[in-house]
Amino acid sequence: MIFVTGGTGLVGSHLLYRLTKEGNKVRVLCRDTSSKESVRKIFQFYSDNAESYYQNIEWFEGDLHDYFSLLDALNDVEQVYHCAAMVSFKPSDSKEMFSNNVDGTANLVNACIEMGTARFCFVSSIATLGDSPNGSPIDESTFWQNDDNHSVYSQSKFSSEMEVWRGTKEGLNAVIINPSVIIGPVELNRSTGQLFETIMKGTPFYTIGSTGFVDVRDVVEAMIKVCNSDVVNERFIVNGENIAYKDFFTMGAKEFNAKPPRFRAGRILTGIAWRLERLKYYILRVEPRFTKETARTSQHKSIYSNEKLQKLYPINYIPIEESIKNAARYIKA
Ligand SMILES: NC(=O)c1ccc[n+]([C@@H]2O[C@H](COP(=O)([O-])OP(=O)(O)OC[C@H]3O[C@@H](n4cnc5c(N)ncnc54)[C@H](OP(=O)(O)O)[C@@H]3O)[C@@H](O)[C@H]2O)c1
Repeated sequence: MIFVTGGTGLVGSHLLYRLTKEGNKVRVLCRDTSSKESVRKIFQFYSDNAESYYQNIEWFEGDLHDYFSLLDALNDVEQVYHCAAMVSFKPSDSKEMFSNNVDGTANLVNACIEMGTARFCFVSSIATLGDSPNGSPIDESTFWQNDDNHSVYSQSKFSSEMEVWRGTKEGLNAVIINPSVIIGPVELNRSTGQLFETIMKGTPFYTIGSTGFVDVRDVVEAMIKVCNSDVVNERFIVNGENIAYKDFFTMGAKEFNAKPPRFRAGRILTGIAWRLERLKYYILRVEPRFTKETARTSQHKSIYSNEKLQKLYPINYIPIEESIKNAARYIKA
């Protein structure tokens, strides 16, 4: 039996589609508030045979905070894919996000050790990697420095990855993947759906930064490949392309018939923008759409190397333009 957390999210629903299509029985952690319908919608988007694949899912009601529900869920489980996490940049989510991502991962790691689970695949993030000061590509050995340039999300992912590394010292057989920004069919109110919401509204400004992007189907491909391999206690960056934000938003605007960004926002403008957003938050309690950390990363050119994974388990990465088209088809439908 395979156990998946975060199955109702962007990554998890695509992982479930692939696993069930291949005939695997999958037990999926869900909360009483989780939308199972969003998983069905993803299945129907990709296949006319959706219902028969969907029948391979065994929903298991629980929560990462509930250690004993995790012990029950892991009965007869050989492989665990841990995709669940809160992905948010809202200040009001900070406490809950830290607790969900870090304590939740610690609970699952401990439960897997207690139950003797054979294999653990953790979805981490490039947010747990450091910066490259001279602009050279960032790889798995570029270490994260603890300073106030990091968002709470990044801190929570770093600390949750540390829980997995701690587990490996206590007997956990783990492999970690660190995807870049994941693009795929998603609800607008969650995960990278928020990026598409911005694109659809049409943003006039662009910044000079760049980052890595990857198709969700390639993330799933990488997860399955490394989880079924005999690689133990290693992490792998999963990154399709390094793209300037301007180019990404321009490609997105084309798909949604929205206005592409035209004016460059330099450091001064983004500096003013995040301070105004913070002021608005303090006075009116309106969640900021732009924070100090996003202002910083928006000006930063980060290049991620996918060489380590390509050498061991090559992936024929889907071009990001195609990933945006795929996501747009789903969102428009
Ligand atoms: N999206 C990206 O660009 C990106 C990039 C790199 C890494 N990642 C990582 O990839 C993973 C999946 O992200 P995603 O984009 O798929 O996020 P998502 O769409 O927001 O899905 C998050 C999933 O986690 C579940 N979850 C959150 N807290 C939980 C808890 N306490 N107990 C049980 N389930 C809980 C959610 O369940 P509900 O449906 O009940 O809310 C949902 O299924 C995360 O670990 C994220 O950090 C994402």
